[in-house]
Amino acid sequence: MTYTIQGSIRLPGDKSIAHRALMIGAIAAGETTIDHLPDGGDIQTTIDVLAALGVNFEQTGTHMTVHGQGGFHWQTPTAPLALNNSGTTTRLLLGLLACPPSTILLTGDQSLSARPMERIAGPLRQMGTQIATTEGHLPIQIHPVANLHGTHIHLTVASAQVKSGILFAGLQADSETTVTGPVHTRDHTERLLAKAGANVVRQGLTVRIQPQTTPLQPLTIDLASDFSTAAFWIVLATLLPDSQLQLPSLSLNPTRTTLLDILARMGGDFQVVDFPRTDVAEPMGTLQVRQQSLQSTIVDATESARAIDELPLLALAATQAEGETVIQHIGELRVKESNRIAATETILQAAGAHIRQDGENWLITGPTPLNIPQHWPLIMPDHRMAMLQIATGLVAGAPVPTTVPNVVAVSYPELTYDLQKLVQFR
Ligand code: S3P
Repeated sequence: MTYTIQGSIRLPGDKSIAHRALMIGAIAAGETTIDHLPDGGDIQTTIDVLAALGVNFEQTGTHMTVHGQGGFHWQTPTAPLALNNSGTTTRLLLGLLACPPSTILLTGDQSLSARPMERIAGPLRQMGTQIATTEGHLPIQIHPVANLHGTHIHLTVASAQVKSGILFAGLQADSETTVTGPVHTRDHTERLLAKAGANVVRQGLTVRIQPQTTPLQPLTIDLASDFSTAAFWIVLATLLPDSQLQLPSLSLNPTRTTLLDILARMGGDFQVVDFPRTDVAEPMGTLQVRQQSLQSTIVDATESARAIDELPLLALAATQAEGETVIQHIGELRVKESNRIAATETILQAAGAHIRQDGENWLITGPTPLNIPQHWPLIMPDHRMAMLQIATGLVAGAPVPTTVPNVVAVSYPELTYDLQKLVQFR
C-alpha cells in the first residue's frame, strides 16, 4: 500500500508555550486567557499542580482563563504534587516553587522518576533553594527559605526546561540572575515573561533576568500549533509520494523550527504561504509542505539540541535520503521519557533501516525501502516513540491505525482522528 498526505489541518496548541502561559498566568495579577489550549496529559498535570497550589482556572473547551495571584502566593498543597509523566512541568515548577511557603513534596510516574533532576536542583541550590532529590531524581522535597540570591548559572546541558526553571526562580531573587548555556534553546519563557512585563534580555547565549518587584501583567494568548506535533506530519508529507499539506497557525518560532532548516537543506520543500504573524509574542503562519526526494546531511550539535524532540522523526526521514546522514551529539535523547536512542534504533532497524551509533552520533544510510514485521507491538511507553512507530508503519505501507496507544494522549490525543483525515490511499 502507498499513501499520500493531503489536506490542511490546524493542530493542537503548542505544549511548551502552554505550560509557560499557565504558569506565568498563575503569578500574574489578573486574568490570563489562553486559546487553543492542548488537552494532553502533560498540560493537565500543569493545571492540576497549579490548582493544588491554590490557582483558580475556568476552562471551556480549548479556552482557558487563569486567575492569577499577583505573585508567588502558593497555598500549601494537601497531598504530594503528582507530576505524572511531565518533565517540563517538573523542571519549570521547581523554579516557581524555589522559595515555597512550607515543605512541598513532588512525585512522578516511573518514567519521570528515572529522569535527571540535579540539573535543575543544583542551580536552584546555588540561588539558595533548599531542595533534596532522591539520588538525583524524584521524589523531591523543597523547604522554605528566607530569600533567594541572584547569581550566575553556567549550564553544561542545553536545556530550555532548566533555563526556564532558573528564570522563574530569578524573578524571586534579590538581585540579577544570569544563565548561560551551550545553545540558544527554545525561548518561550523569555518571550512570554517579557510580554508580561518582566525585565529579561538575551545577550548571545546568556539570558539576564531582574527581580520582579511589581506583579506581572496578565497575558492574552492564542496558542500557535505545536511544532513538535507538526513534525510527525512534516516528515510524512516530505516522504510520501505526491503529498501536499498545509499547517495553518503553526508556531514559527525560529528556536523550534530547526527541523525545517535541516530538511530544507536535504531537499525538502517548505513554504510559508501567508503573511506570518510576528506582532505576537510567538510568531506563527501557514506552512505548506510538499513531497520531495532527500539527500543526506550532517546535523551538528547545536541543531541536535534545538531539534531534540524531532530527532527520531528526522532519523526516519534520513532512512529515505540518498547517502549517509550524520546526526551528531544525540546523547540527551537517552534521558527523555524513554531512552530514545535505543527505542529509535529498535523501531527503524525492525523496519529494515540502516541506522547505527558511532559514539554520540547516529549514522543513517539510505534510501532503504521499509518493511515492518507482521506483529509489531508498541515497544515503549513513550508518546514520541509510539508516534515514530506509527510514522514508520505508514512509510512502510502498513494499514493506517484506527486506534492509537493511550500513551500518545500525553501529547496528541487527536492523532487517530487526524490520521483518518489526512492519510489517503494513492
Ligand atoms: C522542553 C524542552 C526540551 C524538550 C521538551 C520540552 C520545554 O527538554 O525535549 O519536550 O518545553 O522546555 P530539555 O529542556 O530537557 O532539552
